[in-house]
Amino acid sequence: MLLGTGGVSVFALQFCKAMGVRTTVTSSSNDKLARARSLGANHTINYCAMPDWETGVLDLTHGSGVDRVIEVGGPGTLQKSIAATRVSGAIQLIGVLTGAGGEIAPTDIMRKSISVRGIYVGSRTMFAEMIEFMTTHRIAPVIDEIFEFNDAPKAFKRMRTATHFGKLVIRVSSDSGL
Ligand SMILES: NC(=O)c1ccc[n+]([C@@H]2O[C@H](COP(=O)([O-])OP(=O)(O)OC[C@H]3O[C@@H](n4cnc5c(N)ncnc54)[C@H](OP(=O)(O)O)[C@@H]3O)[C@@H](O)[C@H]2O)c1
Repeated sequence: MLLGTGGVSVFALQFCKAMGVRTTVTSSSNDKLARARSLGANHTINYCAMPDWETGVLDLTHGSGVDRVIEVGGPGTLQKSIAATRVSGAIQLIGVLTGAGGEIAPTDIMRKSISVRGIYVGSRTMFAEMIEFMTTHRIAPVIDEIFEFNDAPKAFKRMRTATHFGKLVIRVSSDSGL
């Protein structure tokens, strides 16, 4: 289960596809969901059209829930992710797009024996392993737009609009290959 179609989630979709993992992707945009399907997403849900998207996920999994959630929403989505996760499933908490604080009812984490794990970047070794995996599976980042360094403020402005799909890049060197 992947939330949204930003840089983290689109990369996660590419990794899942390479590993043969079945995915459900949510987005606020049907166009972005179509792009997610073209990258291999098995199921897609528009979370604006279906605010109770966790029930859609449960329907897709015949009531049992998904194995894993890549959580980038934080307090605004975590409760739904808990509801969408199967017994003994796992939630990887990577982002807090909806804010840093909020209320979470923890009962279902306990009742369903869900593991919630925070991820804050990784080690150099993990990065090297990721690059090796990307090379083996010919995974290239999905880049929506590249900005020159002097246009960095425009890149951050674009990011705030959340109209991008995948990565926004700020070029820091002419040797970057982009
Ligand atoms: N822990 C770490 O190591 C690490 C590393 C990188 C990033 N992060 C964090 O992870 C989060 C995502 O980063 P990113 O680079 O992927 O950001 P991003 O490219 O700006 O992605 C934002 C996308 O998330 C989706 N989204 C926003 N609010 C949502 C909601 N309420 N429900 C579902 N989806 C929602 C939207 O997708 P749609 O437009 O498709 O609706 C939006 O376009 C950020 O909080 C970032 O700081 C953490």
